[in-house]
Order: sequence, then structure tokens, then C-alpha cells
Amino acid sequence: GDDEYAEARPPVVTVMGHVDHGKTRLLDALRNANVVAGEAGGITQHIGAYQVHTEVDGEDRRITFIDTPGHEAFTAMRARGSQSSDIAVLVVAADDGVMPQTVEALNHAKAAGVPIVVAVNKIDKPEADPTKVRGQLTEYGLVPEEYGGDAMFVDVSAKSALNLDKLLEAIVLTADASLDLRANAEREAQGLVIEAHLDRGRGPVATILVQRGTLKVGDSIVAGPAHGRVRAMLDEFGNELEEAGPSRPAMVLGLSAVPGAGQNFIVVDDDRMARQIAEKREARERAAMQAKRRV
Ligand code: GTP
Ligand code: NA
Ligand code: MG
Repeated sequence: GDDEYAEARPPVVTVMGHVDHGKTRLLDALRNANVVAGEAGGITQHIGAYQVHTEVDGEDRRITFIDTPGHEAFTAMRARGSQSSDIAVLVVAADDGVMPQTVEALNHAKAAGVPIVVAVNKIDKPEADPTKVRGQLTEYGLVPEEYGGDAMFVDVSAKSALNLDKLLEAIVLTADASLDLRANAEREAQGLVIEAHLDRGRGPVATILVQRGTLKVGDSIVAGPAHGRVRAMLDEFGNELEEAGPSRPAMVLGLSAVPGAGQNFIVVDDDRMARQIAEKREARERAAMQAKRRV
């Protein structure tokens, strides 16, 4: 079956936490550190998924990050995020401490059985109290290693780019200690839509995460009710990709419509089949909506 071809793949990490605790800025800082390291040229653009490199024990390691919003309205996105990821990074601002969506995110990660790494952020602030954060999370059953528990806590500052390498190392160590991450790269791709929007010039643009197989330019795909041939793929720096393997996020151009976040995508034989599947899905969704309305 599939398993005999399975190769090691990077961990997929969902970044969660209370609103304004610094998730997006932390991801930007991690990505910028990569740019400074001479990682890639291109134009940087803001997308909700990135892959970064780090060196652990002299080995080049990659990590895929997915950003999520912290506002309470986005519970479903956080739940979905924790279900589709290998590790959760819980961002807690050291000045604010544990807040309602911190606890909610923690509960999603626990329910999904996903290991948690805590990034205690904003430690550059004079009012930062990282010890208090450790005490608060211990009360919720997330006990730091230094207190005899099994969760790694790293004090960071997204603003001052402090301890970013330590955070990346903690993620790699957590992945190596508790997960055996493998996927077959030699099959047709399948994965998830992370986010999508309509771009005035480029049409529907979807950020996807490849979970198995390798997605290639020219492949015919179905993503929710959308279909099409992959016209181009871009990485997080805006560079064109010819293909995207397991755990790689990419922006995909060429879809007929804007798929929903969290929907699956699959590769099919040709665009005629892609269109038929997409049309069937749409009809099914329409029927379900009408049935709901009749009740
Ligand atoms: P949502 O996506 O809305 O949940 O917010 P977020 O968690 O992504 O927070 P965001 O990255 O947008 O940061 C919120 C505010 O905190 C911004 O003004 C950031 O500049 C600031 N901020 C983030 N990290 C740090 C930090 O390490 N130190 C300081 N002083 N400010 C920070
Ligand atoms: Na914010
Ligand atoms: Mg954000």
C-alpha cells in the first residue's frame, strides 16, 4: 500500500491563541529571519501558511506554520486548525496572561490529541510576567518541562526577534519525541484549503496545504465546489513552484471559483472529470441547503 513509500515530512504547526497576543507578528518574524538567512528572493506576501527552515543538530529541518485568528468568532477555524495539524503552538502574551481564547485553543489541541508548545510572547514588555503564564497554564493541566511536566515553554519576543531559534528547536524536538511524520510523495496530491480569495487580476487564489502526494502545475484538481487546472503555484515568498510535496503550503491559481477554508482538494485525471465532480458537489450542497430551508 501507501506506507511502504512513505517518507519523512515536515511537521504542520497551527499557531493559536487569544486575540492580539502576537501570532501573526511571530510568524512574520520567523519568516523574516529566514529571509535574512538568504533563504529566498521574491516578493514577500502575506499568506496564512508558511514553511521555514531551521538547523537542529547540524541538520536542515523544515516546519510548516498555519496562522489562525484569535477573535472569539473564529472558534470553528481554531477547531479545524488543531485537527489538521501535528503540533499546536499556543501563543500567550506575557503581559496579558491566559485569556478566554487561550483556554479555548488549549482545549481544541487537547481534544485533537495534538502536542502543544507554548510561546510566551512579548517578553520585551516591562510588564511581562512569563512565570505567571507558566503558573496559569499549569492550572489548566499544561505543565512546563521545568516544573516536571511534558510541555516545552519558550519565552519569545516577536518584536525583538528574541529566541525564535529556540522556539523552532522546541517544535522540532517535540515532533521527534512524540510523532512519526510520514507521507507518500509519489502519488496524486490531496490536502486542505487553508484560505482563499478572489484576486482582481489573478482570479480565485487558494492557499492550500498538501497532505499527501505531490501537486504539480498542470494537475486537474477539485477543491470543494471549485475545479480547474493548476495554472501556477507560488510559495510564501511569491516564487513560482513547479510542484509541492507533503506538508508544503502553496498559493494555487487556476480554479473556477473560490473554495471555502477547510475544504479538501484532490487531484483527478483531467479537468472534465474535475468539473463533473465539482458540479455534483455543488448540486449536493444546494439540495442540502434547500432541505434545511424546508424544515
Ligand atoms: P489576531 O490575529 O487578531 O488574533 O492577533 P495576533 O495574535 O495575530 O496578534 P498580532 O500579531 O496582530 O499582534 C497584535 C499586536 O501586538 C500588534 O500591535 C503587534 O505589533 C504586537 N506585538 C506582537 N508581538 C509582540 C511582541 O513580541 N512585543 C511587543 N511589544 N508587541 C508585540
Ligand atoms: Na491582531
Ligand atoms: Mg493574527
